[in-house]
Amino acid sequence: MSKTFADVKCEDCDYVGKGNIEVEAEDTTRYSCMICGSYNVKNVTIWKKVEENETSLSNKTMLIVGASGAIGQGLVEHYKGKVKKLYGTYFQNKPTDDSSVEYYGYAVSGNQLPENTWAYIDIIIYVSGITENAMMHKMSWVKWQRAMSINLGGAFTATGRALSYMRTKRYGRIIFISSILEKISVPGTAAYTVSKAGLSALARVIAVENATKGITANSITLGYLNTGIIRDVPERYLNETVIPSIPQKKLGTIADVTLATDYLIAADYVTGTSLNVSGGL
Ligand SMILES: NC(=O)c1ccc[n+]([C@@H]2O[C@H](COP(=O)([O-])OP(=O)(O)OC[C@H]3O[C@@H](n4cnc5c(N)ncnc54)[C@H](OP(=O)(O)O)[C@@H]3O)[C@@H](O)[C@H]2O)c1
Repeated sequence: MSKTFADVKCEDCDYVGKGNIEVEAEDTTRYSCMICGSYNVKNVTIWKKVEENETSLSNKTMLIVGASGAIGQGLVEHYKGKVKKLYGTYFQNKPTDDSSVEYYGYAVSGNQLPENTWAYIDIIIYVSGITENAMMHKMSWVKWQRAMSINLGGAFTATGRALSYMRTKRYGRIIFISSILEKISVPGTAAYTVSKAGLSALARVIAVENATKGITANSITLGYLNTGIIRDVPERYLNETVIPSIPQKKLGTIADVTLATDYLIAADYVTGTSLNVSGGL
């Protein structure tokens, strides 16, 4: 018996993509779904149709980790109705129920997504993050570990869960929301900066490990936005120091973020990179 891949549509779980071909003899060929294992699949012989499906968002399942924050909710608003299925996670603030999104509670040490959910995920956007500001000589080990765990550890666990399924499906998009602070040094941000730099490093390794598997992994190094975590920056410091330091002299918006995520989802030949969305910083 030989095992290879064909493009199939599963009648049971609606998955369209690579399926197993099992050839037992020249005249007995069976196809099975990569996702649910069903043999109730059709071999899609119109290749063009499959190619369109492979790049179309409407055929993709997306997970936004940290969907409850400002950027997470911006992403949810942007992608709901565009992707086939949208999962979002929250930690303490469960977003208002919305029939087009399935929300799950998520802690970085473990998670509540049902195991079979991971098999369907084609696109992960990891957004969860906190700031832990203190000068290095005053930074406590507890704060350091908290930043590492939430900003970086969660990306490791969530991506790790979905990655082996993505490799089997021969498709995946992994996007980590990092910060421009990983490229410019600002006092008091050691834990935040190092955890964000780790995210980009992780994306680069995932990119090379999966470069021939149809999977791309990238980070977005965000500058200062007009919403979200920026609330931790005192207003006077924001107006007198932060904004004047941005070459474009303005804060970014959610639309700037979704333009970048749209691009990284669409771009097949862009992997292992970190994209500055920072007004020139
Ligand atoms: N806004 C900016 O200017 C800016 C700039 C550069 C980078 N970023 C990055 O963008 C990301 C989102 O920022 P944001 O501005 O949208 O901030 P936000 O509104 O504070 O959202 C933070 C997200 O992280 C989740 N979270 C917090 N603690 C968690 C924990 N222990 N376990 C799991 N999830 C946890 C929050 O969940 P709950 O609310 O449910 O607790 C929320 O979904 C962060 O990674 C941040 O570093 C933001």
